[in-house]
Amino acid sequence: MAAAKLRQLLLPHPRGSLPLGGLRRLRSVGAADLRPARGRSTKGSGCAGGPAAATATAEKKSLLRLKRRTRSASEFDREAYTQNLEWQVGGGRSVGEDGVAHVPVMLGEVLQVFSQRRLRSFVDCTVGAAGHSSAIIRAHPELQLYVGVDVDPEALEVARGRIDAAVESTSEAEERRPRIHMRHGNFRTVKSILGGGITGVGSGDAVDGTIDGILMDLGMSSMQVNNPKRGFSVIGDGPLDMRMDPQASLNAEDILNSWPEDEVGQILREYGEESNWRLLQKKIANARAHGGLHSTVELVNLVRTTSSKTRGRQGWMKTAIRVFQALRIAVNDELKTLEDALYACFDCLSSGGRLAVISFHSLEDRIVKQTFLDIINRDEGNDDAIEFRGHINDDQGKEIEMWSKRRIEGRNGIILTKRPITPTEEEEKLNYRCRSAKLRVIQKI
Ligand SMILES: C[S@@+](CC[C@H](N)C(=O)[O-])C[C@H]1O[C@@H](n2cnc3c(N)ncnc32)[C@H](O)[C@@H]1O
Repeated sequence: MAAAKLRQLLLPHPRGSLPLGGLRRLRSVGAADLRPARGRSTKGSGCAGGPAAATATAEKKSLLRLKRRTRSASEFDREAYTQNLEWQVGGGRSVGEDGVAHVPVMLGEVLQVFSQRRLRSFVDCTVGAAGHSSAIIRAHPELQLYVGVDVDPEALEVARGRIDAAVESTSEAEERRPRIHMRHGNFRTVKSILGGGITGVGSGDAVDGTIDGILMDLGMSSMQVNNPKRGFSVIGDGPLDMRMDPQASLNAEDILNSWPEDEVGQILREYGEESNWRLLQKKIANARAHGGLHSTVELVNLVRTTSSKTRGRQGWMKTAIRVFQALRIAVNDELKTLEDALYACFDCLSSGGRLAVISFHSLEDRIVKQTFLDIINRDEGNDDAIEFRGHINDDQGKEIEMWSKRRIEGRNGIILTKRPITPTEEEEKLNYRCRSAKLRVIQKI
């Protein structure tokens, strides 16, 4: 095994990840949906009492934010983590042109979510480099049906080889191995993806109630971020693309150079939570008068000249990351897609089936949280929601699941993570990319 390469992979990730999520073009978004986020982006500005009071308020807010999530209490699963890396590098299946492998986030926690379940069928809606999927396949010899979905055909190509290898590595006799389906598609259309040929039950609502486990890992893969040609990264130069699906028609260049100016400003404000959006909007409009913006470097330079010089690189880099996030969300209609997909995935779950979602920024996490609450109480109103404190036995009557600390039960399902679970400190040290990850899980009744 290439020890040097493994060491390299274990080092903290050098760049910030630009998280991905659901998608919603701003034209169709109710601005009110995102209003609380806007409030946060202007923090400090409305604080009476001078800088000291503003600092105290900021500290209070960050303490509150800390309390609203539960850091994973699990011991960091170094074995699963290292095994995955060895699998990727040692198997000669390095990812992407530069050979950098994608490190799956909160792998141990995801395995735990499904560990006490009998998984006859599993769907990975964001298969990426198949890190989570390979581990699930190896951990669940009872699996009969596996479906890997990704909107990015390049990711799917990489994943295919790894899934095959994972299946082969289970010592099951050939006839007892799971049926494998790899599908290019958007998870928004999960029901039609699963229809017909895959589940054998027909398409659309016919797939309702058929799947035991579903995973959505919303962050972008390292393959995507590290490839400048995709236009996702503030580092390196590439086209202003940012499409998750290279076959989609809209890209970031279209938005920057031809969408109405006020819509561009709204994107920066709502999706980037960027307080300096007005000035940026103006600069983008000015750039149009001089031929427009055509590369990521041009956009980063525009941000640099807009940002306060006193804050140095830190200042403009953070702004650039927010601007890129905003554009990516708009290009891929990420937020609306996520919301639609959560409802569709829940419908597909069998009784006792679980949907686990890892999100990477507050806009996504808010949608997951609110949609889960709506799902468990749909149709019946929310009067009957019961909040459980402490541990409940798993309904399959095995061990108490320690990872699920506080739950919310509704008529249709149980939210197993009243507060989202975040990575262990150890994982955060090893993989910088995971620092903003939040895991939420829902179970169908
Ligand atoms: C963080 S990666 C997943 C990594 C994977 N869990 C692993 O362990 O290797 C997220 C993947 O989701 C895919 N993706 C993003 N939006 C999607 C969508 N709407 N439908 C399907 N796949 C999507 C991306 O192309 C990317 O490959």
